Amino acid sequence: MLDFHSHILPEIDDGAQSVEESVVMLKMLKEQGVKTIALTSHYIAMDESPDAFLQRREQAYEILKAELEKEADEMPKLLLGAEVYYYPNICKMDELSKLTLSDTGLLLLEMPMAPWGEYTIKEITDLVNSTNIQVVIAHIERAIKYQKKDTIQRLIDNGVLMQVNASFFITKSTRRKALKMLKNDQIHFIGSDCHNVKYRPPKIDEALSIIENKFSKEFVNEFIANQNSYLVK
Ligand SMILES: [Fe+2]
Repeated sequence: MLDFHSHILPEIDDGAQSVEESVVMLKMLKEQGVKTIALTSHYIAMDESPDAFLQRREQAYEILKAELEKEADEMPKLLLGAEVYYYPNICKMDELSKLTLSDTGLLLLEMPMAPWGEYTIKEITDLVNSTNIQVVIAHIERAIKYQKKDTIQRLIDNGVLMQVNASFFITKSTRRKALKMLKNDQIHFIGSDCHNVKYRPPKIDEALSIIENKFSKEFVNEFIANQNSYLVK
């Protein structure tokens, strides 16, 4: 299993506030059967340059790696990425491809919680169609209510991928919608979007067991295999 969205790297954003907390979250995910974790710290272009962010991310990763060397058990595989906040004309950012996940070409893009205009939709689909970048929209469930009815499907039809948080399945009031979207192939990745141990811990296993109960073990396995297939460029 893969966790496509996490804030585990220590002291880089509003996620783990110490390397000890990072390790606890990694262990929780390992216990849940997660084999690969995307480390997707927040990147906001207004706050810093991509290179400054990448430097900070490298430092945080080195600290985590050093801490993990003390662990006897094998840990899940870690992929370095970012959750990049969208702004108009982001496609003109020269370093955008440096913010993709490891060597997959996948870019986790956090969109505004507001209606997206045609310009925005075109910019996202142009990115997918005319660059090597494959856009994955972060926790799409948060933005759906602001969009026109057909926007999500239009984006998917144009090659844009969708990520949802495990909580979309776990929360009773949104579960039906989550399962329906999954059945309709509108969800490509599930992420924990974990930030800490106490208030936003990783719960990938809970989401998967809800999916398994509704559909089947085979359905879950197929979804997991499909997720993994995107990691190979
Ligand atoms: Fe996030």
